[in-house]
Amino acid sequence: MNPKQIAGEKAASYIKDGMNVGLGTGSTSFFAIQKIGDRVKNEGLKLKCIATSNESEKLARELNIPIYGFDEIKELDITIDGADEVDKDFNLIKGGGGALLREKIIAYITKHYIIIVDESKVAETLGKFHLPVEVVQFGWQRTFDHLQNLGCVPTLRQKNNQPFITDNGNYILDCDFKKIENPKSLEAAIHEIPGVVEIGLFIDRTNTLIVGHSDGEVEIFEKTK
Ligand code: A5P
Repeated sequence: MNPKQIAGEKAASYIKDGMNVGLGTGSTSFFAIQKIGDRVKNEGLKLKCIATSNESEKLARELNIPIYGFDEIKELDITIDGADEVDKDFNLIKGGGGALLREKIIAYITKHYIIIVDESKVAETLGKFHLPVEVVQFGWQRTFDHLQNLGCVPTLRQKNNQPFITDNGNYILDCDFKKIENPKSLEAAIHEIPGVVEIGLFIDRTNTLIVGHSDGEVEIFEKTK
């Protein structure tokens, strides 16, 4: 079985009737959303959901999962989302799919934040995956310079030979830091750069980490705070 599917379906079992739920983005979240759709259909779960991207919203609507706006829900009981890299302290790099801004807004209003990954995403130290930084289009070259001065190699993300544009109309600079020894101070330093909208570092957010393995095993780790 697909390890992403194992993790995604396991996470969907945490959802209870009446909850407000955040829906993640990406190929692992896809399986969680599918399973939530099954549960809405078969168990008649009444949920209020927010999607972290236009793509996930479309999928959820196709499955008759009720979708609300960011202005309509103040707090989420559970969010289930994927990650591009997760370290031993459950810190994350996210934004490989370009949805980091909405994902972070949702992470900060969530009581129980569940991250679902396959085994390949687990790392001792963050940084092998290039850190996505969402920046405004205006003057992005100067934002690029400041990021470079922090010691990384940034690349303007492309799609079909054009700059990739996020759901919020911004660009993404993927920053190769090799190793991120102190994610918290790096996040603070990047936030000081003019033109930066949001950063794909998610620190101290994850409550539960679900790791799917290709042999069918699923591991669940709880963060003790
Ligand atoms: C979206 O912008 C990302 O943060 C995704 O959550 C992340 O890229 C994980 O995606 P996959 O589940 O497709 O690996």
